[in-house]
Amino acid sequence: MPLYHKLGKIPPKRHTIFKKDDGTLHYEQLFGTIGFDGMSSLMYHMHRPTMVKEVGETIDVSPKAAVAHNIKSRLLKGFDIKPEDDYLDSRKTVLFNSDVHVGLAAPRKSLTDYFYKNADADELLFIHKGTGTLKTMLGEIPFEYGDYIVIPRGMIYQIEFDTEDNRLLVTESYHPIYTPKRYRNWFGQHLEHSPFCERDFKLPQNLQTYDETGDFLMKVKKQGQLHHLTYASHPFDVVGWDGYNFPYAFSIHNFEPITGRVHQPPPVHQTFETSAFVVCSFVPRMYDYHPESIPAPYNHSNIDSDEVLYYVDGDFMSRKSIDKGYISVHPAGIPHGPHPGTYEASIGKSKTEELAVMIDTFKPLQLTQLALDIDNGTYYQSWMK
Ligand SMILES: [Fe+2]
Repeated sequence: MPLYHKLGKIPPKRHTIFKKDDGTLHYEQLFGTIGFDGMSSLMYHMHRPTMVKEVGETIDVSPKAAVAHNIKSRLLKGFDIKPEDDYLDSRKTVLFNSDVHVGLAAPRKSLTDYFYKNADADELLFIHKGTGTLKTMLGEIPFEYGDYIVIPRGMIYQIEFDTEDNRLLVTESYHPIYTPKRYRNWFGQHLEHSPFCERDFKLPQNLQTYDETGDFLMKVKKQGQLHHLTYASHPFDVVGWDGYNFPYAFSIHNFEPITGRVHQPPPVHQTFETSAFVVCSFVPRMYDYHPESIPAPYNHSNIDSDEVLYYVDGDFMSRKSIDKGYISVHPAGIPHGPHPGTYEASIGKSKTEELAVMIDTFKPLQLTQLALDIDNGTYYQSWMK
């Protein structure tokens, strides 16, 4: 996050003596990315953050390809994914490559009896249903319907849900997730033409410090394995921190759409970028206002990107038989576009209420068996009259 933030108590100068009430020292930790070149935060712990008591079982949670070479357009019924009590168990990868894993989750219970850290990937959680609080070692972020939550890799967290009715789109990125560089100035500040700005971000707040020792179960995802570690101190024992590397949230409802006289290309909807995929937000907006404009998108060729569109709410003007939670997959190599009749029907319309999240990956995606289980099977033929 190209934004400085701090919470709690920190010493006036970094790497200097910072004592607890009992006269002993706090333990400073640099939490950084890309070696020492990326964004980082400095945090101050009550206990050594390095105290591993035991290393227990390791579970392989890496996705397995049911279709490794996909050329079919697909329509996955996302809400057919069954709810599960445990947060991590509920997360089901449906599409993946070596850069990004896209999954769906319907967790019923809060994650409270262990701690979780994804050491492989930045996580982008999109909250389709549910409210709650993300609890991290750097503070808390309340969330609600429409929130994107960006959790940098290595961040220790728990998640609390207010009810059992939750639906999440889970993106794990092996490359750092940033807001698009072209929206920002030389200093990193979001420019006037950006569809959102710093004021729209929800930053960590309400830093809680737990000065506790004992047995604390930490599940660490690394190299596709879920390692079970026992730590000797409470992972949320930070008394203060500052820096740039921290989780934050942004509501899709705060994305201000860019419109034009004629059809605007997908990059105007871009919300996040990585070196391997982009994330776009399609939000309610006025349609093109040229008197001869065709609001529905033209047919377009995905020559070098797989396109994943997750349908959240509203009407989906260029698609037929789409419902909430559906995912369309338009693979690289073949064109796709509006369904028969929708191109013509869009003429004269003045606005759309569609709400959707798009993920375009630069490498082809593989499908898991679960993706095939919720695939409608005939979508690739849906452009036939
Ligand atoms: Fe498309």
